[in-house]
Amino acid sequence: MATRRKPAVQAELPLFVKPRGLEVLASEARHCKNCDLWKTGTQTVFGEGAAHARLFFIGEQPGDKEDLEGRPFVGPAGNLLNTAFEQAGINRNDVYVTNAVKHFKWEPRGKRRIHQKPNASEVAACRPWLDGELAAVKPEIVVCLGATAAQAILGKSFRVTKQRGEFLQSPEGYTVVATVHPSSILRAPDEDARHQEMRLFVDDLRKVAERMNTKRAA
Ligand code: URA
Repeated sequence: MATRRKPAVQAELPLFVKPRGLEVLASEARHCKNCDLWKTGTQTVFGEGAAHARLFFIGEQPGDKEDLEGRPFVGPAGNLLNTAFEQAGINRNDVYVTNAVKHFKWEPRGKRRIHQKPNASEVAACRPWLDGELAAVKPEIVVCLGATAAQAILGKSFRVTKQRGEFLQSPEGYTVVATVHPSSILRAPDEDARHQEMRLFVDDLRKVAERMNTKRAA
């Protein structure tokens, strides 16, 4: 008698590589308690943008305004990013924008909430959401804005100051490029330095746009 072959067992993928749509991910992330930042943040600020964007931007974490509105890059750094997008010929509606960490980390100073840099374990705790977003969007180019995003994707030893604007491959196979965080431009010591930093930032984004257009034409 012929023996029946056992059906191949589908490997159970770890949670972070299970393909899930952005809406499902966003609603799951609302209840995230992977680290303690949910205790002081108003809400999870998930990424937003075109579901199958070719360009995927990663910032550090939501700021004060983002925390209150629940949307990424809607405060001063977001305004600067929008201006840079316009100057570089990138339409914000065509891209996906998110953060390495989805809760605002802050400490009180008087009545103000002052941004605190997330630590490595907070970035790692949030990584499943970022991986989920990348897996859902499947972008052609990932743009890291600042060191937190760049090190999350390219490793601890990555230095934006040394490798800014270089197109690299992430361990997961994404084409990745890093540039400065828009907040660093806002913090420039004077008007001249701010103009100069903005010009370099827009140059970096123009190169990204050109690379996208070359890919489209190929
Ligand atoms: N800075 C970030 O890194 N992300 C935001 O969403 C806002 C400010």
